[in-house]
Amino acid sequence: MEIKETLESLKSTTLVKIEQATTLDELNTIRVSTLGKKGSMTEVLRGMKDLSPEMRPVVGSLANEVRDTLTEALEAKKEMLETKAMNEALLNETIDVTLPGKELNNGTPHILTQVMEEIEDVFLGLGYEIIEGYEVEKDYYNFERMNLPKDHPARDMQDTFYITEDMLLRTHTSPVQARTMEKHDFTKAPLRMISPGKVYRRDSDDATHSHQFHQIEGLVIDENITMADLKGTLEVLLKKLFGEDRKLRLRPSYFPFTEPSVEVDISCFKCGGKGCNVCKHTGWIEILGAGIVHPSVLEMSGVDSEKYSGFAFGLGPDRVAMLKYGVNDIRNFYQNDIRFLEQFKVKG
Ligand code: DAH
Repeated sequence: MEIKETLESLKSTTLVKIEQATTLDELNTIRVSTLGKKGSMTEVLRGMKDLSPEMRPVVGSLANEVRDTLTEALEAKKEMLETKAMNEALLNETIDVTLPGKELNNGTPHILTQVMEEIEDVFLGLGYEIIEGYEVEKDYYNFERMNLPKDHPARDMQDTFYITEDMLLRTHTSPVQARTMEKHDFTKAPLRMISPGKVYRRDSDDATHSHQFHQIEGLVIDENITMADLKGTLEVLLKKLFGEDRKLRLRPSYFPFTEPSVEVDISCFKCGGKGCNVCKHTGWIEILGAGIVHPSVLEMSGVDSEKYSGFAFGLGPDRVAMLKYGVNDIRNFYQNDIRFLEQFKVKG
């Protein structure tokens, strides 16, 4: 009888232990210590050999019943603990999709790039081509073909960095005029182009001068092009850049490659013409140089100056950007100070 009681008490104490187990590890320990090879259940069954032949089947079936009950209880508890562990994991790993994301710090085009692209867009809309020239240019194209022969006094204002005697860093984008005209077939179509890019001068850097800056050259050649075409075109551009109610003023000037030549002013966009610090109390702001292409410049590029005429202009995007955004030192554009550049972030 003793063995039956041992089995019964083993069953009830183990069921309590199973009931109280809180982890899968604990549960496993219980299983091994009860039903394992060296477990208490196995130990008890070893005592079966001392039983009388009549008792053996009775105790045997009780032992089976105890083992099945414990196995089932262990299985059930195991399943329960696994489900619990899974639910806890799901709860802990929940992603809150409403949390703000990590902000990506996108860069932005340089303010000068933005201004140049704004100008390019206006001319693309007017049917112009954008043509890139060479920053390292021949003296011949930079000066001679623009009507500035070797001893011309106007070369003084455009001293530059020489690579060799005949090669230099271009002082303006005007040589692109000559290079484009000499290749263009005027019997097929008129020429309308702008050419943006970097130019160089041997200037001492100060608030308004930099040894490297930017220009946008413009050139239109066709039959019967006049000053009226020039004025109308620049009006479209300058109103777009500085406001629809800007007025234009052309003042006589001199450039070796245009005749007549003009300086183009706009009515001040800050005070509207009354006079303020931006327009130095004149009501007008000087924006660019322009003119009717000199017949010699046409002829040197193989263009018949009796048949064709054209206008040209040269615009400084650095100056446009300084005026538009109230930047008072051109050197800010070239110093790569992120605090300055970030002020002109394109809104995404
Ligand atoms: N090339 C001139 C300069 O750098 C700017 C200029 C003036 C260009 C008049 C032109 C023009 O095409 O017609 O000072």
